Amino acid sequence: MAIAPRVLAAPANSLDAIGQTKGLRFGTAVGMGQFPDARYRGLIEAECGVIVPENELKMHAIHPNGPDDFDFTRADTLVDYATAHGLKIRGHNLIWHHPEWMPKWSETLDYGPKPAERVAEILTRHVDTVCKRYGEKIFTWDVVNEAVDNKTGVMRETAFSKAMGSPEAVLDLAFRTARAAVPRCELVYNDYMNWDATGHCGGVLHLLDGFRKRGVPVDTLGLQSHLSARPGLPHFGFGPEQEKAWRGFLDAVTGMGYKLQITELDVNDTAVPGDFATRDAAVADLTKAYLDCTLSYPQVSTVMVWGMTDRYSWLQHNKTKREDGQPLRCCPYDADFKPHPMRDAIAASLGDARSRV
Ligand code: XIL
Repeated sequence: MAIAPRVLAAPANSLDAIGQTKGLRFGTAVGMGQFPDARYRGLIEAECGVIVPENELKMHAIHPNGPDDFDFTRADTLVDYATAHGLKIRGHNLIWHHPEWMPKWSETLDYGPKPAERVAEILTRHVDTVCKRYGEKIFTWDVVNEAVDNKTGVMRETAFSKAMGSPEAVLDLAFRTARAAVPRCELVYNDYMNWDATGHCGGVLHLLDGFRKRGVPVDTLGLQSHLSARPGLPHFGFGPEQEKAWRGFLDAVTGMGYKLQITELDVNDTAVPGDFATRDAAVADLTKAYLDCTLSYPQVSTVMVWGMTDRYSWLQHNKTKREDGQPLRCCPYDADFKPHPMRDAIAASLGDARSRV
């Protein structure tokens, strides 16, 4: 598809422009499923300064058949588009260290007589090739995604970690290879993160501490920020109690010298009954409370949503549906590309954020 450059800077009142007045950048995930929709591209160009390919850079997308074949077609389309439009690009992700999301071939491949060496070779070649292909076009990489079990806080095992002897062996190699390939890129460990999940938070802190002790080059913790609105709780789940727990966690992370990015914000409103206005107010309230707290940390540089419109959100495919059968209202724009109050909540939080310019 030929894409003519249209705008090189987002309009003055865009979310990205509001963020930039405070030294923050705003953007969205976009996948090849919605990219052909000109209305979606219009929204990106009107509001965003950054994009992140939703699935196209994942290991299973780049190597659909096995580790030796690379397919960059879909990722290149998004990277070329962003480059032509002056949008910055986040890379997501070099390894999704979660058994459900590793490429299927990783489970069945014969790694030969020296499996640790063979997996190290596959991983090194993957990280090095992907990073160098895009070089500085991608300013930050989620090098590792979701390596800590969200229920237990224990490190996840995959076929790679079993072959290499430990999850840390895989993660450390991925970060070291990325740093060598793209030395100026901001390297991120990305995970769900939730103030309620103390086991998970503890596991992530332990991992981040281990990175520091082993001298692994990790710059930033990516806070995915897939929020769920909970009726009956202050700010629909982010009241003073939750804020205290969240600040405790962020204090510990930033105390180790890590920077922060909000990488995948959206709000699941499955549990909120009522009409659109009621639901939208809940989603906006939670968004504002969460962002106001999190953006009070000057270490946060970037706010990404996981989709600009309800029409294409991954959350519409969740197994758990709303009781009234309605689609979710989880993104800043509705299914008809009209802004809802979540958009204003993001604008207000970005505008109110302390300056890091
Ligand atoms: C999701 C995509 O949105 C879906 O299209 C895909 O089927 C599964 O992955 N955390 C992440 C993202 O880090 O990569 C996930 O994206 C959403 C949860």
